Amino acid sequence: MRVQEKIKPRTEETMRSIKSIVKLMIPSRLMKNYHTWKRSRVHRVNKARPIKEVFTRVYEEHQWGGAGDSYCSGSGSSGFHASQYAAVVKQLIQDKGIKTMIDLGCGDFVVGRALRTEGVKYIGIDIVDNLIHKNLEAYGDAITSFQSLDMVKDQLPDGDLCIIRQVFQHLSNKQIVSVLQKTKKFKYILITEHYPAPFVKIRVNVDKIHGPDTRIHDDSAVFLDEQPFNVPTQSITLISDIEAQMHLVHKGERLKTFLIQNAHSF
Ligand SMILES: C[S@@+](CC[C@H](N)C(=O)[O-])C[C@H]1O[C@@H](n2cnc3c(N)ncnc32)[C@H](O)[C@@H]1O
Repeated sequence: MRVQEKIKPRTEETMRSIKSIVKLMIPSRLMKNYHTWKRSRVHRVNKARPIKEVFTRVYEEHQWGGAGDSYCSGSGSSGFHASQYAAVVKQLIQDKGIKTMIDLGCGDFVVGRALRTEGVKYIGIDIVDNLIHKNLEAYGDAITSFQSLDMVKDQLPDGDLCIIRQVFQHLSNKQIVSVLQKTKKFKYILITEHYPAPFVKIRVNVDKIHGPDTRIHDDSAVFLDEQPFNVPTQSITLISDIEAQMHLVHKGERLKTFLIQNAHSF
């Protein structure tokens, strides 16, 4: 490894530490105004960029963490929630006799890796080409494969379980509607999203521009049984609800996983 390659990741990490110390010293009201201004600027820029370009930049600029030439899907993809989530999904795979799972927005495969089950095919889908190449090279085998696709526009592979973990929170309402329409062919759909803390006065399904941020800064999140998604309540079961390890705005934010069944009927 050349000296320059060694130094760069360290510099990025140091810059991140300095930034978080500076943030702690700034009054919270000022910080909030700064975040609002920064988000609206990012939204304006991302609106003009295709989804592929936006998320490729997110990974290449390490907006969700990582350093050097690593591609990192963020802190929501590791730790206790990931292992608790994997336990819930693995139980479901066993109970429902799943043969093929399709992971839409598989990211860096940190979570997907924990879902691997003997004899069950795993197909990871993501829009970022280099991420898919890296995953294929490192983890591809007889039952584990990856495809570079846009879940909003492209045809999805067949399977019996579709997993969408912490992806809708980064997409617009229109894009989510399009994906939900296409997932109707799956017998089981698992959707995991980040939700505001229980004391927050919620604004349901506030729209956003596709990008690395989430609706949580608008006191909002994705509510599948509400407009414009309208998934029938009786088709949705909450199967996991735990406190997010890393909160984005307030302590006490939740990570919830919903199982959708009978999607072909609505
Ligand atoms: C926050 S990451 C979640 C990764 C993984 N599901 C997890 O829980 O660790 C969201 C992922 O969705 C991918 N993504 C966003 N829009 C997409 C689209 N239209 N088609 C395919 N992947 C998309 C992003 O590139 C990113 O890897």
